[in-house]
Amino acid sequence: MAHGSQWIVLHGRASSLVLEACPGEAPLWRYWGPRLPDAALPAVPLRDSRPTPTFTVQFDQPLSLLPGLGQGWFGEPALKAHRAGRDWTLQATHCLLEQDGQRAVVTLTDAVARIAVAVTLALDPHSDVLTISTVLTNTGDDLLDVQWLAAAVLPLPAHARRVRSFTGRHNIEFVAIEDTLTRSQWRRENRRGLTSHDCFPGAVVLADGWAYGAQLAWSGNHCQLIDWCDDGRWQWQLGEALMPGEVRLAPGESLQSPEVLATCAADANGVAQNFHAAIRARMDWPGSAMRPRPVHLNTWEGFYFDHDEAALKDLADAAARAGIERFVLDDGWFHRRNDDTTSLGDWWPDHAKYPGGLGPLAAHVIGLGMEFGLWVEPEMVNPVSELYRAHPDWALQVAGRPLITARNQLVLDMGRSDVRDYLFERLSGLLAELPIGYLKWDHNRDLTAAGERPSYRTQVLGTYDLLARLRAAFPAVEIEACAGGGGRIDAGIARFTHRFWTSDNIDAVSRVAIQRGFLQFMPPELMGSHVGAAPAHATGRIQKMSLRNHVALPGHFGVELDLRKLSDRDLARLGEGIARYKGLRRRLHTGQVWQGEGPDGLLWQAHGSAAELVLLVTRIEPQQQRHAPGLRLPMLDPARHYRIGDAVHHGAWLVQHGLDLPPLRAESGLVLELTAL
Ligand code: DGJ
Repeated sequence: MAHGSQWIVLHGRASSLVLEACPGEAPLWRYWGPRLPDAALPAVPLRDSRPTPTFTVQFDQPLSLLPGLGQGWFGEPALKAHRAGRDWTLQATHCLLEQDGQRAVVTLTDAVARIAVAVTLALDPHSDVLTISTVLTNTGDDLLDVQWLAAAVLPLPAHARRVRSFTGRHNIEFVAIEDTLTRSQWRRENRRGLTSHDCFPGAVVLADGWAYGAQLAWSGNHCQLIDWCDDGRWQWQLGEALMPGEVRLAPGESLQSPEVLATCAADANGVAQNFHAAIRARMDWPGSAMRPRPVHLNTWEGFYFDHDEAALKDLADAAARAGIERFVLDDGWFHRRNDDTTSLGDWWPDHAKYPGGLGPLAAHVIGLGMEFGLWVEPEMVNPVSELYRAHPDWALQVAGRPLITARNQLVLDMGRSDVRDYLFERLSGLLAELPIGYLKWDHNRDLTAAGERPSYRTQVLGTYDLLARLRAAFPAVEIEACAGGGGRIDAGIARFTHRFWTSDNIDAVSRVAIQRGFLQFMPPELMGSHVGAAPAHATGRIQKMSLRNHVALPGHFGVELDLRKLSDRDLARLGEGIARYKGLRRRLHTGQVWQGEGPDGLLWQAHGSAAELVLLVTRIEPQQQRHAPGLRLPMLDPARHYRIGDAVHHGAWLVQHGLDLPPLRAESGLVLELTAL
């Protein structure tokens, strides 16, 4: 702590934060933004720099790490709680600061409301990502009803202008929306019980010349808001959205918030790069390091529920010939699962489709040199299933209310240990009996009323617990997080998983925008991206194999079609796409990512480093200009030369003038490799 414990200062690579610690209250937010020199601290305490305006509470209440309620802070409070209507005002009365290098813990107590709140802040100098989480403890002697606990309260500068967040639905995830910040509160709340297609739990705020990003590492209900403050700054709160009565802390009990990952950088690309580095550092890979992302074959769109063992073996033969490395058997393999109306919960092979179980197919796949993966949807049960017949009480329900199905299914109560034990037993049985290297873990509906008492958070914690148990028992198995495509993409579940199924929409044109949104928060190696059939099942549109290959290239590449039905020409093209992916995946998946829009509707993204880049240029709409201007590549080193194909270009020329590109037809792409000399 600098200056006799007056400041909490954390410096990252390119960012700094400064909090002003005042005895007996929550530290005041002074700064979060571009890196300051170590000595650049405020000259005077905040309150000394701002006289009390007329007709204003005489104890000045600037934005703090834990804005209070009912004691002179009139903005959004960080905590809303009460004890049967009492102890509802909040104002820290004591503050303990502990700092150890890049990590600070601020423990605040409110002796009147009888609570303690510990906020942990850690700024990683490598990624420049600040991780914040908050724990609330009931230190009183009666129940504390909690309505809101911000996981993080972040300051945004007065020059913050716009906020870019992401909405969507099944088949169209990561739809970017940009709102201007005004004095009206900006708020996005999700009550669907899982991360949701509709409301990604994070955003990017664009200020003049600088960008801020935050995302909540949580796979359940969430809320984020940006609220204008009296001094022209803004506060950004993110946290778990709690339903009435969901969290009632007994004396001594605590509520641990999810973590918020927050970062700031020169622009949205810098924010994305920092997030990618932080997510990579949190990943728990089998063998503790990521191996090259294997090319997938997923059976869903090629076969749906129509599993035929001989046909699937033929498919596996064709996949191995095409260079595919992992064969994932999707929905339809288990007990009487012939469509989406039955069987979820009955996790054993369907003996009509697989008379000898899944062993022979798995052995066939492995004999071809591929890994074998299996689809499951553990948190769900169909009312028509053996499981539901045996345990109807295991489904989340509210007495007197109808059982609301979605995709004909109900949700199991993951808060129950007997439910988790059953699922662990079934899944671990499969993993122990079969040579399964990979699970695709699906979740195909929103939660409605989650139990007699709302238990959305218990649901998330129960799922995390089951995932952790399986990971510990089968550490070599990778897991893909899927929820009807991209309904559960977040940094919370990323701790237990290794890939996201980005969208059920595999239409290459739709995918361009979906993937660009995904890459704002998550690194490309986690982005499941498949070559699908033409026409695309989700849209009916037809795209050339070259475009399908091009759009799938930067992510974790896969194929989701019946290879046996491809023309020789398309099969050969697909083989070229697979070979190209294998040649480029190291550079695509280990460096930085930049995305931009070039002139005349061109979209580009570059993966790698300023020394070695893979550049993908995509044109969706026809070129409007007769001749395209150069594509400027701002990330290159202007002092170096770059080889692109046979030509050598000056870096400064590429940065300032840009790369001259050949005309591109609509719905086509170009992949270029740039090497610094
Ligand atoms: C939804 C997923 O997103 C699809 O990829 C597929 O696994 C189906 N569920 C299976 O029911």
